[in-house]
Amino acid sequence: MIEVKSLSRHYGDFLAVDQLSFKAKQGEILGLLGPNGAGKTTTMRMLTGYLPPSSGTALIDHHDIVRDSVETRKRIGYLPERVPIYPDMTVRGYVLFWAQLRGTKEAKSRTDMVLKQFDLYTRKNTLVRHLSKGLKQRLGLAQALVHDPPVLILDEPTIGIDPQQVIEVRDVVKELGKQHTILFSTHILTEAEEICDRVLIIDHGRIVAQGTPQQLQKEIYSTQYYVQVGGGKTADVRALLQSISGVAEVSAEKDGFLVKSTANEDLRAAISTSIVSAGYTVLEIHQRRSTLEDIFLAAIKAAPGAQAGKKAKR
Ligand SMILES: Nc1ncnc2c1ncn2[C@@H]1O[C@H](COP(=O)(O)OP(=O)(O)OP(=O)(O)O)[C@@H](O)[C@H]1O
Ligand SMILES: [Mg+2]
Repeated sequence: MIEVKSLSRHYGDFLAVDQLSFKAKQGEILGLLGPNGAGKTTTMRMLTGYLPPSSGTALIDHHDIVRDSVETRKRIGYLPERVPIYPDMTVRGYVLFWAQLRGTKEAKSRTDMVLKQFDLYTRKNTLVRHLSKGLKQRLGLAQALVHDPPVLILDEPTIGIDPQQVIEVRDVVKELGKQHTILFSTHILTEAEEICDRVLIIDHGRIVAQGTPQQLQKEIYSTQYYVQVGGGKTADVRALLQSISGVAEVSAEKDGFLVKSTANEDLRAAISTSIVSAGYTVLEIHQRRSTLEDIFLAAIKAAPGAQAGKKAKR
């Protein structure tokens, strides 16, 4: 349904998307996970026909985005990062406008249908400028779905809305994902875990890791502990920590150590017991959930040749 083939985009000399290739099937929610500036929006804008690729292409429902952009646009519903707002339009007028622009059959009845679906029908005559952020986001989703496209491209749909609305939007996306192909960007790890069938982690315009959230968790997420020890030489304490069963890696951090583990069980008790048995004291020990940054660092470190070409020139 979405097949991206070696897609790249330069802004001047800056390479924002670097030969990205991936596929997403019908009924699949594919997460594009990456920090600010990773190239998520640039990728989505190319797929939706708002930005021409510098090289490479993609197929949407077997239609080429470069050669056949009219056909591909009809097949995509796009929720951009910043929903373009026409403040003086009514809610209904806004959705109808997008429906007609895309040549949707029975535009009026489709408009009313999506307004009902997103609980906006009772506000159909409200001016867009009077909607709250959360409602604007729902309006953006209604607009994206009005022409009943098989593919949905949603650029950080939960950003800037309140927790209740976040839950609602996530539920809507999960439901839509049963029928549609969805490309969903976020920089929130837990969100990707909750919603996506598969995740691509991108950084500097490249895929640095991919898999189901469970696979990534197993392969990349390591549980980490920060441990500060009283007594003992650094090298000795480090060797001691390293010898604990389940410990994968020990590194110095601030006045203590960062202990990484791939084990599922909590190692805090084992760590403190070892330290105390060796005659040292535990000054501090706490578990740290891997942050997105840790995962990036692990993924980038593991990616072959990853250090080359961060700011590749043409
Ligand atoms: N029009 C532009 N001109 C020049 N550079 C740009 C332009 N748009 C984006 N960039 C740069 O390209 C890189 C990728 O940007 P992009 O917006 O695609 O990232 P993103 O992953 O969507 O980030 P965010 O999480 O902040 O939305 C960034 O370094 C950004 O500064
Ligand atoms: Mg973005």
